[in-house]
This record gives sequence, C-alpha cells and structure tokens, in this order.
Amino acid sequence: MDRIRIVGGHKLHGAIPISGAKNAALPLMIASLLTEDTLTLENVPRLADVIQLQRILGNHGVDITVQGKQPGDVANRGATLHISAARIVDTTAPYDLVSRMRASFWVFGPLVARMGEAKVSMPGGCAIGTRPVDLLIMALERLGAEIEIEGGYVIARARKGLRGAEIVFPKVTVGGTHTALMAATLARGTTVIENAAREPEIVDVGECLVKMGAKISGLGTSRIVVEGVSRLGGARHSVLPDRIETGTYAMAAAMTGGDVLLEGARPELLQAALDVLVQAGAEVSSTNEGIRIARNGAGIAPVEVTTQPFPGFPTDLQAQLMALMTRAKGTSHITETIFENRFMHVQELARLGAHIHLDGETATIEGVERLKGAPVMATDLRASVSLVIAALAAEGETMVNRVYHLDRGFERLEEKLSGCGAEISRISG
Ligand code: UD1
Repeated sequence: MDRIRIVGGHKLHGAIPISGAKNAALPLMIASLLTEDTLTLENVPRLADVIQLQRILGNHGVDITVQGKQPGDVANRGATLHISAARIVDTTAPYDLVSRMRASFWVFGPLVARMGEAKVSMPGGCAIGTRPVDLLIMALERLGAEIEIEGGYVIARARKGLRGAEIVFPKVTVGGTHTALMAATLARGTTVIENAAREPEIVDVGECLVKMGAKISGLGTSRIVVEGVSRLGGARHSVLPDRIETGTYAMAAAMTGGDVLLEGARPELLQAALDVLVQAGAEVSSTNEGIRIARNGAGIAPVEVTTQPFPGFPTDLQAQLMALMTRAKGTSHITETIFENRFMHVQELARLGAHIHLDGETATIEGVERLKGAPVMATDLRASVSLVIAALAAEGETMVNRVYHLDRGFERLEEKLSGCGAEISRISG
C-alpha cells in the first residue's frame, strides 16, 4: 500500500493547476446512460473514482474510449472521454462494484428513465455517517417507478416510462437532485424539483443535459423545472474546475505561508471558503489565470464556521479548514451540519499535536504554536488531505498511510505540492 512522506516547514510558492471536478465528472459520466449517442467529456480528472466508474458503466455495456494527447493540448489538461451507451446490456449494478463508490448508485435514475428498470445494490455503510439513499428512491417513486427492496438491492420498474411530478426534498441532497434531474429529462410531462441542491456540479450536469437536448430551467436555484423529452442526443462538454481541490490548496498555502496561483480556479465556485480564508488572515485575489492566495508574515486568525449546502461553507472543506485552524492564534469553532461522524480526522490531527475538543456536531480547536510530524492514517478522502495540510506545517517527518483514499479524489497531489516547494513524496508498496 502506498504511503506519502512529508517533511514540513516549507512555504509554498508557485502555481498549481486545478483539475476538473470529481463531483461533476462522475454524474456527467453517468448521464451518458440517458442517450444512445456519444457523449464526449473533456477535462476529466485522472482519479481512481473515475476509473472505478468506467468499470461500473462497462458492466452495463457502455463503451468508453480515452482519447490520447492531441497536438496543442495543455500538459495539465484532464482526459477526454468518448462515452457511448448505444446498447445497455445489463440494468443491474452489483454489490461488489457499487459498494466501493457511493456515487455509482446514481446510475439508478438514468437506467430507470431510459430502460424502464434497474436493480442497483444499496451502497452500504460509509466512514462518514450513515448516508442513506431514501430520498433518491423517493424521487423515482414520485416519477412513477415501482420500488422493491430485496436482498440488499433496490429494484425499480417503470414499464411504461416515467411521468413528470412534483418532487419536494425535505433536506438538500446533491445525489437526490442529480437523480431527480437526470430521470426527469426523459419522463413524460413536467417535473418540478423543490428544495433542489444548488451546488455548481449540479449546474454543470444540467448544462450538459441541456446540450444533449433536455429542457431544464432554474439550474442553480432551489426550484428546478424539467420538461421531459422523448430522447436525448450526444454532446461535448468540459468538466468545470474542482472547487474542493481549489479550496484544499488554498488552505495549504494559507497554512504554510507563501504565495500560490491556483490556475484555472473560479472564485464564484467557493466564495464562502475564500471569505473564511480572508478572515483567517490570507490575502485572496482573482486574476485572469485563476485565484492567487498568499500569507506573508501575519499569523493565522481563528474563525467560527458552520458547514452548509452551497453557497455556504462546504462540508468537503471542513477537515482541511480544521487542519489550518490547529495553528491559529486563538480558539476556533467548526460545526458540521451535513454529515454526522465526519470528524475522523480529529484523532489523527491530535497525533500531530493539535488540540481539538469534540462536542456533538461542534469541534473546538485551540491553536497551538507548533505541530510535530508523526505517522498518521488516512480515513476518508477529505480527512486524509487535511492530514497532508497539517503535515506541511509540522516539524519533521509525517508519514500518511492508506493513501488510496487520496487517490480517489486528488490528481497528482504530490507533484502539484512539490512543484511549489513542498517536501513530499510517494513511497510505493
Ligand atoms: C455529495 C458529494 C459529497 C459531498 C456531499 C454534500 C459527490 C460525488 N459527492 O454527496 O462529496 O460531501 O454531496 O455536499 O458529489 N441524505 C439522506 N437521504 C438520502 C440522501 C442524502 O438523508 O437519500 C442526507 C445525507 O445523509 C446527508 C445529506 O442528506 O446528511 C446530504 O447528502 P447528499 O447531498 O445527498 O450527499 P451526496 O450526494 O452523497
């Protein structure tokens, strides 16, 4: 199993190219199930989760070709995928594939919408809370699917196709909104999705669906209206930049001090996080090339933050912010409202010398003068990168074990950070 070795204490200086967003690339790939024609996706990040989803889609009969480099390609541009679901040969998504990646459950909506049936394994437990799929099932039921749960599988049937309906989500859910939106594109009549998620990745998927011929209004608001069409066609779409990767490297730059340009990053995708970084003492500016983040001399100021659905502060940056606050001059409070148990990083950060006290949903972080390197264990995707941020500022060596979590969501992390002066390397085996 690979490990990452970091020797802390180096300021970051330079440029980091931001990759395409994992959380948009995955549902965009899944949207290919809605059409017989080819969907071409550009700027797809090279991540373990993308490869895993290629396997899952392959099991349904989807052909995916990854285009080689073309003349004039920018070195850091993501992959181009040509995805064709001309013939879906199997509408079952088995346990051994779905259990490895929760978002693969999202094939459910498109399969029922196009094929009138789907049998998808329940995703199972997860390190960051129970993460149920009841609201995704509710959305399809509202659209007229008959649902049964049998042997750990959710089975949906809609022999005569789906029909438009009003879907009111009792809480904001990204996966629920993706599912409702994709399924509604091929339903007969009008669907209204109330309390829809407003995350930029939903807007990106919606814009791609519109290019494929879907009729959608209200993207980016909490009320999305979809007029069903009888078929969708192919399209070409470029994945938007990853706001979580952007925020992660912004926190790393704020943590070590220095001056970093996050190339291709778009500030409107993470304004709440940038505001918090400014409160913490970082200088943030937008340029034509991306976002510049610097911290020179000034210490890190403590903050009070509560995670919220977009446009609030994202839960996917909570662990990284906590790492930053371990070195603040004073006491911070971070409240997690989206996922229970999303504090697996706390005990690992403590191994580096952080002072964090947990009380229900709220973590109280007392900033310390120095962190000290230690062996730590990656527990989930965002938690593991918070350990990297802490290690960049810790004295001595930190060894991060179980880095396969990082490979699920961060493309070429060691390369991007070492390019800015960090002492970080991967030890294979
Ligand atoms: C997506 C993101 C994940 C991010 C999360 C919240 C992807 C691939 N993953 O996950 O990185 O952390 O949004 O921004 O895009 N819930 C239910 N019932 C359901 C579905 C969700 O109760 O059927 C609850 C969840 O337990 C959670 C809340 O709703 O408390 C939000 O979850 P949701 O937005 O659905 O997260 P995901 O789509 O799984």
